[in-house]
Amino acid sequence: MSVEYDISTRTFTLHTKNSTYQMRADSFGYLLHLYYGRRTQGITDWVLTFSDRGFSGNPYDAGNDRTYSLDVLPQEFPIQGTGDYRNTMLEVRDADGVYGCDLRYSGHEISEGKYSLKGLPAVYANPDEEAQTLTITLRNERLNLSVRLLYGVLPDKDIITRSVIVRNEGTRPLTVMKLCSSCLDFTHGNFDVITFHGRHMMERQFDRQPLHHGSQVIGSNRGMSSHQYNPFIILAGHDATEISGRCWGMQFVYSGGFEAAAELDQFDQTRVIMGLSREKFAYELETGEEVIGPEVIMTFSNEGLGKLSQNYHECIRKNICRGKFRASNRPIVLNTWEALYCDFNGKKIIDVAKEAKKLGVDMLVLDDGWFLKRDDDSRALGDWVADETKLGCTLSELARSVNELGLKFGLWVEPEMVSEDSWLYREHPDWVMIIPNEKPTRGRNQLVLDLFHRDVREYIFEAVSKLLEQANIEYLKWDYNRSINEVYSRKTKNGKAIYNYMLGLYEILERINSRYPDVLIEGCAGGGGRFDAGMFYYTPQIWCSDNTDAIDRLNIHYGTSFGYPASVLSAHVSSSPNHQTGRITPLKTRYVAAMSGGFGYELNPLALSDDEKREIASQIEQYRRDRTIVSDGLYYRLSNPAEEAFCAWEYVSEDGTNVLVNAAVSLNHGNMPQIYITPRGLTSGKFYRDVDSGKVYSSDALMDSGFPLKMPARDFESYTFRFKQL
Ligand code: GLA
Repeated sequence: MSVEYDISTRTFTLHTKNSTYQMRADSFGYLLHLYYGRRTQGITDWVLTFSDRGFSGNPYDAGNDRTYSLDVLPQEFPIQGTGDYRNTMLEVRDADGVYGCDLRYSGHEISEGKYSLKGLPAVYANPDEEAQTLTITLRNERLNLSVRLLYGVLPDKDIITRSVIVRNEGTRPLTVMKLCSSCLDFTHGNFDVITFHGRHMMERQFDRQPLHHGSQVIGSNRGMSSHQYNPFIILAGHDATEISGRCWGMQFVYSGGFEAAAELDQFDQTRVIMGLSREKFAYELETGEEVIGPEVIMTFSNEGLGKLSQNYHECIRKNICRGKFRASNRPIVLNTWEALYCDFNGKKIIDVAKEAKKLGVDMLVLDDGWFLKRDDDSRALGDWVADETKLGCTLSELARSVNELGLKFGLWVEPEMVSEDSWLYREHPDWVMIIPNEKPTRGRNQLVLDLFHRDVREYIFEAVSKLLEQANIEYLKWDYNRSINEVYSRKTKNGKAIYNYMLGLYEILERINSRYPDVLIEGCAGGGGRFDAGMFYYTPQIWCSDNTDAIDRLNIHYGTSFGYPASVLSAHVSSSPNHQTGRITPLKTRYVAAMSGGFGYELNPLALSDDEKREIASQIEQYRRDRTIVSDGLYYRLSNPAEEAFCAWEYVSEDGTNVLVNAAVSLNHGNMPQIYITPRGLTSGKFYRDVDSGKVYSSDALMDSGFPLKMPARDFESYTFRFKQL
């Protein structure tokens, strides 16, 4: 059993293969957190201490006992208004404007299987997989408010999920002002906080800082999970490395605004919380209404950051991604964006497709610029009708011509947006999130549709369906190219609009996925601005960044790999000099950096030399041989590119018999110190042969001493090694 309840002490214990999570409903009915760490038996309530702490108040029920304070005790669901002055998870305001309430344990239920969340993405259990759900109900009598805390346990994956459902069972409305889904309290310890910050074209940069007094907060108020901070936070012991030490992760299964805060309090205790962004959020609940806090995926590793990442990789690949493309090989694409931008006609597309076919790709993806009047990015979003004059044919004819060349056909869309210069906007100005009588902010000249408006959702669903019906489109690149600023909906209370926008998006994607299960949708938001587990539930791969420079991508992929598997990461080989950085890099290095689950090219094949064409053709053949280990293998980071002169990473097949190591050197220097690569995850006591050189290595020695890299002869040199177990 992964969920246990000890009735005499009202203690709940969640077990996974390698971890245990424990909490208790105490005699006052407060839910205290006891433990989250390596797997253990028994009750760990010795962590609780009680002292009289000045200015940390006491609940009335504690009587004259001044040693009981919620400002000090570790809690499971700390809420505003109970005398806990740290970061809390829930703030409610009643109909009279009074803030705060007190929630007490009122019951629980243990059920088989993993819970799901209405209208929101969530981890699911596979049919043959053990999973349990614990639901703990807390209540406030004055407001008649019920809060259900949901815990999902996937023992084999070392995953525990949390979510929360707040329901108004009273007779008067109340407003949820803040809602978090997960909290971890530690009564002592010294931790580092690891987050992934960035910007457009430079997402998910690894950042590790010692936690200091106060709160270290990351988040997004942009209505999207954002390029600036990924909704993922790791708390790690100071001594935790890639291969050893304790670390805890929280990852949000949500694509909108979020907040994650790590706090070191007055008594050197640590609290980490994660939940919805508070900005523009005031969720009014009428009688009988509820709001769901999106899911947080938690995992604990006692074997360092490498294992923590592998836990997330497994979970995203097998328990978040769905549909036919979850496990199957994705097409190798030639995307037209950096090849042609909006400057093309039907003939150019076919010429590119012919050449792409010769190189060996599977699919031509027609990016932006194919619809009416869309010759640059200033107009026409919303009018999803092909520009037949520009194309010289219908979309269906174009797709057919591409198909006749032996290629599949994919298409770019950005359905959540509208241009002011569009028929859609002229006909339905009221469908847009603009504050009446205010001038809207513009982002890339586009405005955001109100996805909570049923007619808007219907329009998007019908427009996308029409495209998919009229032509043989087997892939959609679903883009999203601005942050939300104006949050105004004619169809929902405005404190609800930002959250309900996401529900609207998820509903549309769910409908499209279920009507067109054979269409692969690639997510995109100016590259990786919505690169989160919420989107992966609907789109099994996401365009990782608008930066296709191989060397920058090494850093972006390094940061991305902490929370997300290679199988969901979309990366393309582009031309050199690179369009974003002007950097000139070898074609091989561009390939090594781009090789991932969503692989392809984003360059004009007509502009390639014969040598480049030959090299690309052989890359594609090689990729077909290596793609399974890349997508399904265990992933190891072998260096930190920000600290070392090289970036190296490794994939090991699940049975340990095949190994692929990639490495790339950034700048070459005179008389460089020798670089050694030290693989991990090989089967101990075995021998492995380097497939290219034939050299045989003992696995243990290789994992201890590493092997030397041939000294680079130029900047940006790259290397690939394949080892086979003997
Ligand atoms: C965004 C995407 C790019 C490309 C352009 C087209 O920036 O991230 O890959 O599709 O839009 O306008």
